[in-house]
Amino acid sequence: MITLTNSPADIKRAAKILKDGGLAVFPTETVYGLGADAYNTQALAKVFEVKGRPLFDPLIVHIASLKTLDHLTCPDALDSQRHQLLEKLVNVFWPGPLTLVLPKKPELPGLLSAGLPTVAIRFPSHLIAQSLISLSTGAVAAPSANRFGRLSPTRAEHVVESLGDNIDCIIDGGPCTVGVESTVMELIPAPRILRPGGISREQLEEVIGPVACCGFAEDILCDQADSAKPSPGMLQSHYAPEIPLFLHGHEEMANLSYNGNEGYLFFSGKSRDVWLINSTVQTDNCTKPKTIFVLSESGDTTEAAANLFEYLHILNKSGASCIHAETLPEEGLGRAVNDRLRKAAQRPALCAAQKAADE
Ligand code: TXA
Ligand code: MG
Repeated sequence: MITLTNSPADIKRAAKILKDGGLAVFPTETVYGLGADAYNTQALAKVFEVKGRPLFDPLIVHIASLKTLDHLTCPDALDSQRHQLLEKLVNVFWPGPLTLVLPKKPELPGLLSAGLPTVAIRFPSHLIAQSLISLSTGAVAAPSANRFGRLSPTRAEHVVESLGDNIDCIIDGGPCTVGVESTVMELIPAPRILRPGGISREQLEEVIGPVACCGFAEDILCDQADSAKPSPGMLQSHYAPEIPLFLHGHEEMANLSYNGNEGYLFFSGKSRDVWLINSTVQTDNCTKPKTIFVLSESGDTTEAAANLFEYLHILNKSGASCIHAETLPEEGLGRAVNDRLRKAAQRPALCAAQKAADE
C-alpha cells in the first residue's frame, strides 16, 4: 500500500490505480471512502472482499459532474413531480453529504447495486475526492473504508489500521469535517430518509417539504419480519467498536457511577459537569479525561457528529472495558449520531450479521 498526498501528481497516480482496476482510499467531507471504478466488476468484487461486506448491500457511486448522472441513472423513469424534487435537492445540496437513490441504467454492473433496479449517487464536496473522480472514469464506487460493521474512518490512520495491506493506495487528506456518513434518501414512492447523515431532515424539509424517516424501530421490524429492508445496508448493528457500548438517556447518564475502567462519551460539557457532580466517585482521574469525552462542549449536534467516530476510535483502543454513551437530542445531526450509537450498541446482531457475511 502506498500513502499519497493531495498533490496533483499523487491524485493522478491514485486515479490511474482506479482506472487499472485497483483500490484507492480517499478522503471525503464525511468519512474516508474505499474507492473502485464503478464500471469494473472485478474491482467492485475486491471492495466487497476487502470490507468483508455481504453482497446484498449495494455501493454508493461517487461523481464529480452532473453530466455523469445521465450515464448512471434513467431520469426519464421519474415523473415530473419527482424530477422537480431531484432538481431542487441537487441544486441546494450537491456537492455535499446527500446520497440519492435513483432508477439505474440497466447496463451498470449488477454487483454495484446488489441486483436492485436503483443506484445510490453521491457528489462529494471534498476537493480531493472531486479531483480524483474527475481524473478517473468519473464514477467511483466507494463504501466507507472500514471492515464491515465496524467504526467508520475519519482519518487516514483509521484506514491503515483496519484495511492496511489490502488496498493499493490511500490519499491522506487529514481529518474529515462532517464526520458521519452522507444522508441516504429515496424519492420513489415519496421522499424518505433511509439513513440519517450529514444533511439533516430539517435541512431537507426546508427545501422540499415533508420527508419521511426510516427510523430505528422500523429497522427492527424489518429485521424481525425477515423482509427486504428499504435500504439493504440498514442492519440493526453497524458502526461498532470492539468493546461493548451502552447507550443512556441524559438522566441515566448523569446518574452513572464513575468507574475508572470504563469509557464515557457525553454529548455536551453541561452533561459531563452534571455527571461529575452526581458521580459517586470524584477523583483526580476525572480531570485527566483519558476515557471521558465530550462530543461538543457547547452542545452543538454538528460538532458532535464531527467528533463521533474520532472519539469512538480512541475509546475503543483506550483499554476501557466498555463505553457508556449519551444519546443526543433528536434534531439536526443528532439523529445521525443517535442512529450510529444505537447500531453500535447492538452487538449480538452484529455477530449474527458478520457470521452471515462470512458464509
Ligand atoms: O458518506 C458516505 O456516504 C460514505 C462516503 C465514503 O461517501 N459512504 C458510505 O458508503 O457510507 P456505505 O457503503 O458505507 O453506505 C452506503 C449505504 C448503505 O447503507 C447501502 O445499503 C445504501 O447506502 N445503499 C446503497 N445503494 C442503495 C440503493 N440502491 N438503495 C437503497 N440503499 C442503498
Ligand atoms: Mg459504511
